[in-house]
Amino acid sequence: MTAEVGFSRGLEGVIAAESALTYIDGQQGILAYLGIPIEELTEHSSFEETAFLLLYQKLPKRTELADFKQELLRHRTLPEAVLDVLKRLPRKTAPMALLRTAVSVLGHFDPSPDDVSTATLQAKALKLIVQMATLTAVIGRWRKGLEPIVPNSDLSHAANFLYMLTGRKPTDEAARVFDVALILHADHEFPASTFASSVVASTLSDIYSSVCAALGALKGPLHGGANEQVIKMIAAIGDPARAEPYIKEKLTRKEIIMGFGHRQYKTYDPRARILKHYSEKLAQQAQDPCFFQIEEIVEKTVIEALGSRGIFPNVDFYSGTVYHYLGIEPELYTPIFAISRIVGWAAHMIEYLKENRIFRPTTRYIGPPLGHYTPIEQR
Ligand code: ACO
Repeated sequence: MTAEVGFSRGLEGVIAAESALTYIDGQQGILAYLGIPIEELTEHSSFEETAFLLLYQKLPKRTELADFKQELLRHRTLPEAVLDVLKRLPRKTAPMALLRTAVSVLGHFDPSPDDVSTATLQAKALKLIVQMATLTAVIGRWRKGLEPIVPNSDLSHAANFLYMLTGRKPTDEAARVFDVALILHADHEFPASTFASSVVASTLSDIYSSVCAALGALKGPLHGGANEQVIKMIAAIGDPARAEPYIKEKLTRKEIIMGFGHRQYKTYDPRARILKHYSEKLAQQAQDPCFFQIEEIVEKTVIEALGSRGIFPNVDFYSGTVYHYLGIEPELYTPIFAISRIVGWAAHMIEYLKENRIFRPTTRYIGPPLGHYTPIEQR
């Protein structure tokens, strides 16, 4: 029997791993990758460079970044069979479920899926980063009965995604905003999805199984699925004048307001602050301030009611409006989260496996005392 170290519902406060990747100060609202504040990364870096930073735990030199980008470009096209499988699935399947299935199918095309050495996992992760983006764009189009768009090798990862989704080259501004959103979602320490993928990886299973587990966890509305729910709520409110009473009614009914609250942050989520800035900018440019105005009122109403209990907007609150103003449909918001967070899932797996120990917590038994089997005729 192992010594009990205590019980915390939802593992709150439990340190489940050591990691050099992401630092969070939930009281002061600080987030940094490898010690670099997220504000500096979103200002100076790119998604490609941030992915390198997390996967290799260092900023790349110029040639390393060029090689990394070249490798990313090389994998933008998907195996035909993956597209064939997608086409056989019901068109109304949720995009997150399609993405999960497609990642599983991708695993069948890896000649050595079970190789979990560091260098191999870094290479597999790189390929998944690109292929999940292509898959999400393909899924977004296929749902509308549109054919896939051939990737454009002149475009960055972010710009190419928007191009493959819409068939139009995005403006530099749109590509930049999307790049920022990808940087902001790349890692966040040990949320449910990253923990799930690390648990699977700790059994020395393959990366595709780990990523499928992570996708399943991210999909839930208490985690990454919240962004889709937020935008649907904003659309349902529909008019800034209705925002305050709508939220107050929900709060009176003790309902959870999607896009608020966080296990780690008891103050404003720094990612939400950055995304709010871009939402406002995009709303002004689109001369369509309605959604942004509703969100500001929702934010104010929730903070007035729950701010004293440490409940503030989280990353999912303003990401949806950014994507809305970029013309993306709500059902793709969580897959878009995933095409960035694959970086963090992989980076944590790689890091954890260097000193692997299988995750195997325990339960506190609260069942009946030891007894005896009762034959069926005596029950
Ligand atoms: N709206 C209203 N009340 C809330 C909210 C919210 N969004 N979030 C927390 N609370 C309340 C809870 O009802 C609970 O109240 P109680 O003590 O009276 O029972 C208290 O605050 C503590 O909340 P918990 O759910 O115990 O906090 P926990 O750390 O377990 O959960 C979570 C965090 C799941 C994010 C929660 O805040 C929530 O459900 N938020 C809405 C969903 C959401 O936006 N998820 C995305 C999170 S970010 C991400 O995953 C990328």
